[in-house]
Amino acid sequence: MKKKLKSKKFKFIPVNKPLITKEDISYVNRCISKGWISSEGPEVKKFENNFSNFIGHKYAVAVSSGTAALEIAVKSLNLKKNDEIIIPNFTIISNAIAVLKENLNLRLIDCNLEDWNMDIDKIKAKITKKTKAIIATHIYNFPLRVDILKKICKKNNIILIEDAAEVVGQKLNNKLCGSFGDISIFSFYANKQITTGEGGMITTNNNKLYEHSKSLRNLCFGKKDRFNHEGIGWNYRMTNIQASLGVSQLKRIKLIVDKRHAVGKKYFEKLKDNPNIYIPEISRSYAKNIYWVIAIVITNKGLKIDAKTLMKKLLNYGIQARPFFWPMHKQKILKDKYIIDKKENYKNSEYISKYGLYLPSSLDIKNDEIEFICKTVNILLK
Ligand SMILES: Cc1ncc(COP(=O)(O)O)c(C=O)c1O
Repeated sequence: MKKKLKSKKFKFIPVNKPLITKEDISYVNRCISKGWISSEGPEVKKFENNFSNFIGHKYAVAVSSGTAALEIAVKSLNLKKNDEIIIPNFTIISNAIAVLKENLNLRLIDCNLEDWNMDIDKIKAKITKKTKAIIATHIYNFPLRVDILKKICKKNNIILIEDAAEVVGQKLNNKLCGSFGDISIFSFYANKQITTGEGGMITTNNNKLYEHSKSLRNLCFGKKDRFNHEGIGWNYRMTNIQASLGVSQLKRIKLIVDKRHAVGKKYFEKLKDNPNIYIPEISRSYAKNIYWVIAIVITNKGLKIDAKTLMKKLLNYGIQARPFFWPMHKQKILKDKYIIDKKENYKNSEYISKYGLYLPSSLDIKNDEIEFICKTVNILLK
């Protein structure tokens, strides 16, 4: 089998590499040559304006990462100790960290097996008088049904924090993801739809949350007396260099989203008939698959191959893959932190975290690379 697959053409196919164009570089160079290297300057404002216009929220605050955006968003709500925030169990640790840093209680919701988003049907049973917010995170491919969740939140007086870090440019019923939240967050890390190297954004229509977020990003400097600070904030500022890359990348967002979708479609066509794999479909009635990552789950446990084993085997052929998130209930560092839901089982997250992985999906990945990866996967999982 090895002989059949060994290919001299592809030494190494990385799971993701960013696509930085000549236009991006010359735009960033212009910013640096004008001396706009720190957070003070026009590019940050321009990126914020362009981004809020794009999402359809009134206000935007550019920050240093998606994680920083989450921490600020949660703190901006001024919740009380032991108030509860519901988050997905299958997600990035940043969701949990933002809650715990404010001494709030975590409530965890297991994911479904169709798109790995938090199971909305399980949320109602978790809502108590102490539930003040839900972090609604879109995971990997299809959007979480934030349209449905928004109604539940409204009815129960709960704030919707939409985590659209992975899905900039994706639409849910023709409305952009990130535009549903009372406050929304985005990430511009190198593997995201658009990148600023490191970076993030908060958007909202709420003036109070906007002013508070802006202040928290920048050490809560005093309005009257600058160095007499009004609160305990962070330096989570974005630089103009980063923002200029964001401005340039955002111009291409439609092309980027279309390209990613096209890559995902090619993978889907080549993997869909393998009975040992689950790969989400190309589109549904309410959304197109954004294929932020080319995620697959091994469904045949009889093969005795889990994600870790498959990743190792793929690497022998120069194909880099990554495992799915490690679910929150299995994080050692959170062991004593989600006390309320401790006895619950999270069997879906547990299953996909063991059997799920994602394959290379750089925007400039070549057709013959996709062909080679799918052929390899199909032979290894026969
Ligand atoms: C859903 C989600 N939220 C938040 C983040 C955090 O973003 P950052 O890496 O910019 O801190 C990530 C990172 O991948 C993510 O996937």
